[in-house]
Amino acid sequence: MIFDILTIFPQLPSSVLAEGILGKAVKEGKVTVRVINLRDYTTDKHQVTDDRPYGGGEGMVMKPEPIYQAIQAMKAEDAGTRVVLLSPQGRLYTQAVAREMSTYNHLFIICGRYEGIDERILHFVDDEISIGDYVLSGGELAALVLIESTSRLLPGVLGSPDSAARDSFMDGLLKYPQFTRPQVWQELEVPSVLLSGDHEKIALWRRKEALKQTLLKRPDMLKTANLSDGDRRLLEEIERERKPKAG
Ligand code: ADE
Repeated sequence: MIFDILTIFPQLPSSVLAEGILGKAVKEGKVTVRVINLRDYTTDKHQVTDDRPYGGGEGMVMKPEPIYQAIQAMKAEDAGTRVVLLSPQGRLYTQAVAREMSTYNHLFIICGRYEGIDERILHFVDDEISIGDYVLSGGELAALVLIESTSRLLPGVLGSPDSAARDSFMDGLLKYPQFTRPQVWQELEVPSVLLSGDHEKIALWRRKEALKQTLLKRPDMLKTANLSDGDRRLLEEIERERKPKAG
């Protein structure tokens, strides 16, 4: 999959793209990330990418023309490129949106800056995405969040093909808790079922714990999670265990 990042800060993404799982995916050619300098698409001597807002007010607005030219140049190379604008006004990014992104071959990601982008650019954008209800100074970190979370879902990027499937959010639940050695740490013990070697029991325990984590920490997610009859029975069990015993 190809990701293009259009930015006025082309140095910014480099360390994230060189390290960890994403760095490995880039090195192995499973993911290609190209950073495009927006200033290369300006035509004036000073390579200006912003201007004062019509109507007055604070800050600067990104000019539409250099962004448009960059989009056109990319579309000439690959007409199927999906153009994504990152902004706080976009639809909210979730694991489901990450899954959707992973179905495209080529994303062209526009990072906004300053007080925003001239609204008319939206006519040339396929999707506007926000990574959360807070404001960043620019879209670069959001672009990296999108690239990192989408890349994990591509075949061969994670060590084991089903580790992505076990991630939090994949089936609408938080992930079950994990433990490693030592077995007792700070007088806290690893749940004994995990030492039992009984894979069926362990799977059931993990499902129940995933349901419990979600119920306690993100009950809103249970409303839309894909729950089986077995899950509902486990939830009832969790509720019963949470209630103080009578008498
Ligand atoms: N740019 C500034 N804030 C943003 C956000 N929350 N999501 C995506 N892009 C942004």
